[in-house]
Amino acid sequence: MSILIKNGRVVTASDDYHADIFVSDETVDVIGRDLVIEADTVIDASGKLVIPGGVDPHTHMEMPFGGTHTSDTFETGTKAAAFGGTTCIIDFAIQFKGESTVEALDKWHAKAAGQASVDYSFHMIITDMPEHRTPEMRRLSDEGVTSYKLFMAYPGVLLSDDGTIFRAMRKAGEDGTLVCMHAENGVVIDELVKIALSEGHVEPKYHALTRPTRLEAEGVHRALSIAEVARAPVYIVHLSSYDALQEIRLAQARGVMAHAETCPQYLLLDVSAYDEAGFDGSKFVLTPPLREKWNQEELWRGLRGGSLHVISTDHCPFCVKEQKELGRDDFSKIPNGGPGVENRMSLIYHYGVGKGYIDLNRFVELTSTSPAKIFGLFPKKGTIAVGSDADLVIFDPEHEENISYYNPRTHHMNIDYTAYEGFAVKGFTETVLSRGKLVIDKGQYVGRPGYGRFVKRGPYGGIYKPEAAGNITTPAARRLAAE
Ligand code: URP
Ligand code: ZN
Ligand code: ZN
Repeated sequence: MSILIKNGRVVTASDDYHADIFVSDETVDVIGRDLVIEADTVIDASGKLVIPGGVDPHTHMEMPFGGTHTSDTFETGTKAAAFGGTTCIIDFAIQFKGESTVEALDKWHAKAAGQASVDYSFHMIITDMPEHRTPEMRRLSDEGVTSYKLFMAYPGVLLSDDGTIFRAMRKAGEDGTLVCMHAENGVVIDELVKIALSEGHVEPKYHALTRPTRLEAEGVHRALSIAEVARAPVYIVHLSSYDALQEIRLAQARGVMAHAETCPQYLLLDVSAYDEAGFDGSKFVLTPPLREKWNQEELWRGLRGGSLHVISTDHCPFCVKEQKELGRDDFSKIPNGGPGVENRMSLIYHYGVGKGYIDLNRFVELTSTSPAKIFGLFPKKGTIAVGSDADLVIFDPEHEENISYYNPRTHHMNIDYTAYEGFAVKGFTETVLSRGKLVIDKGQYVGRPGYGRFVKRGPYGGIYKPEAAGNITTPAARRLAAE
């Protein structure tokens, strides 16, 4: 099977030029001007961008949470991802307390097998990791799971204490893997929640009021400090506020191997969403919560300036009906999370590139190349190069849509609302190849559940390496690096 894409404007994290791309079987075979090669299918990409398929390193398909499951399965969620130009997701398997991570991984393999339209991989959520079980982490990395997520929130369920975090980071640093951190002080948050409920405050907006930015910043600060002492890289997930961003900047400046992602919801939505009529504020009960609007400018600045490295979605969909409604009389029972895997590329193109916050190369870098590099997928994924997987998106920069639950071109996620209702976008995914196979053809799904495969990832490929500790600037950090 071969495909020739003619006349496109090829954009990667570093390049921008007009060329033809010849795809043979699953990979890019030739890139050049005016190629004359016989192909089974020829696609004219005149006037279109050809970009690497999006890599979304933060999704939750079919995830158990708060007595229910996220509403997208690997089948529905990866199909929606494909419609939006994302060709690889990294989802989260969960190891519950007492369970081995190897058992947990098997369960998540069983959920995803035969379902996905595009490729997928897993991080492992670790909820306990006594010293004697740390060798499991090496076993996971042999299975291609080279990153973990630990929580400083949700005491009693997901929270790991600081000792567990330190042990996991130390081991990850030795193995060349990466700890991702949900950084919020969940113990104090739980106290604030108790106070709010005791005062009779049950509405969705109290989800935000009980999770102040300072408690996110404290978690980020603690995670970065533990990583510094463990001499390991760390990746802060779903960073939402300026206070937390400042902690990242300070740590990076002293040489900590700190990465952070933010998500479209923190760039485009704000705390006023909780005032929507009736129970509609529940649609935005996600964690960390939406922040005051002024934070958005700061996050864009962090993305442009390089302190933030990735835009993921934290796609974690729960329907209002029967799911968010579990918390109608108590905001703390509303399942946390919101949808987004389908809309990321258009939203960031329109509101990021279109509004001048980031350029086109940075758009590709933040949504594809950088997550592929950090999480050990590059150069198979995350770029367009000879020998790379032919995960390609033909993106129409002129195509305008209104994102809506009611618009059949913008909503394929299995959820009864969109967080971006009425958002206008100029820039839309037209055609998608996943490993050389057409999945979306001019807006029509032509893929197959089960075509997408589990991708074994390589070691942490971030821009910092422990050997670079010589660059560390503070005397205390230099001393640690020398030990
Ligand atoms: O609200 C969210 N983000 N729920 C998903 C779990 C997590 O913390 O990522
Ligand atoms: Zn989280
Ligand atoms: Zn998440």
